[in-house]
Amino acid sequence: MFNKKIILSGMRPTGKLHLGHWAGALESWVQLQNEGSYQNYHLIADYHALTTNLDTSRIYEYTIEMLVDWLAAGIDPNQSPIFRQSQVKQHTELHLIFSMLITKSRLERNPTLKEQVRDLNLGPISYGYLGYPVLQAADILLYKGEVVPVGEDQLSHIEITREIARYFNRQYENVFPEPEPKLTRFARLPGLDGKKMSKSLNNSIFLSDSEGDVVKKMKKAITDPKKIRKGDPGRPDICLVFTYHKKFNPAEEKEIRSGCESGKLGCVECKLKCAARINEFLIPFRERRARLEQNPDEVKAILESGEERARTKASDTMRQVHEAMKMG
Ligand code: TRP
Repeated sequence: MFNKKIILSGMRPTGKLHLGHWAGALESWVQLQNEGSYQNYHLIADYHALTTNLDTSRIYEYTIEMLVDWLAAGIDPNQSPIFRQSQVKQHTELHLIFSMLITKSRLERNPTLKEQVRDLNLGPISYGYLGYPVLQAADILLYKGEVVPVGEDQLSHIEITREIARYFNRQYENVFPEPEPKLTRFARLPGLDGKKMSKSLNNSIFLSDSEGDVVKKMKKAITDPKKIRKGDPGRPDICLVFTYHKKFNPAEEKEIRSGCESGKLGCVECKLKCAARINEFLIPFRERRARLEQNPDEVKAILESGEERARTKASDTMRQVHEAMKMG
């Protein structure tokens, strides 16, 4: 099939994924794959992981955990190559060329960088970290990505990618498309304490959690603090559990709202209902995971064949780049 639009999606290998990753990214990857009109490439950005953590001792483990979660969520590796940045050397090659096409001050103006430096208390950053969006531009343009599903924090990186593509095309020859970001709809699913869902905050439901884990965690979720016992009227719009109902139990949303507001529905019952829906939702994930866990070699082979296919596409693009630059 040709003329399929090319989608490039990526994540840094952070280990096992949680429902926030599902709602913010994976769900839309799977939908786009199943629509059938796109060719997806799925990148594991292991070099990007170095920007904030130089300790690579667990990077392979994190990569495999994340990959298994992608597969469990329904990414089909036969349709869509899955590969590590570090194993397709053209990423670093194109990164180098692109690094000449953008100024240092443009990169220093990147709002996502500024935010991270502030939030993570980073102090002086490395040369590689400043170039984070340049490597991301290489990730996307190496596959001539036209659509990039991202969260809001990545919009500034896509803008830089577009600038680099324009600059290259103007300076040399028209090789690259100008990729469009595709914002995920339900971008933020909060954690069980109402803060951003994050592994380090211990407030996450993981895609790999057991049924029992989900129930236990959901019981601890915060609700409307004014609804103390069954019978008290609650305010679903400020209740975290209601957010989860909206996402994972839309069919009962109305009923839950009125039950909560009238007081008829108690928080414990409401939480158990919610946990049951999440568990139902996770059934196919658990089935696929169980099969993959029996076959670690299959997981490795998926990565190898994805990397093989990625290299073919990447070397074709690099040939065009070198020709355009009269370096071929
Ligand atoms: N920067 C992205 C993130 O932190 C990860 C990433 C790296 C990426 N390269 C990419 C995302 C290319 C999309 C396309 O989430």
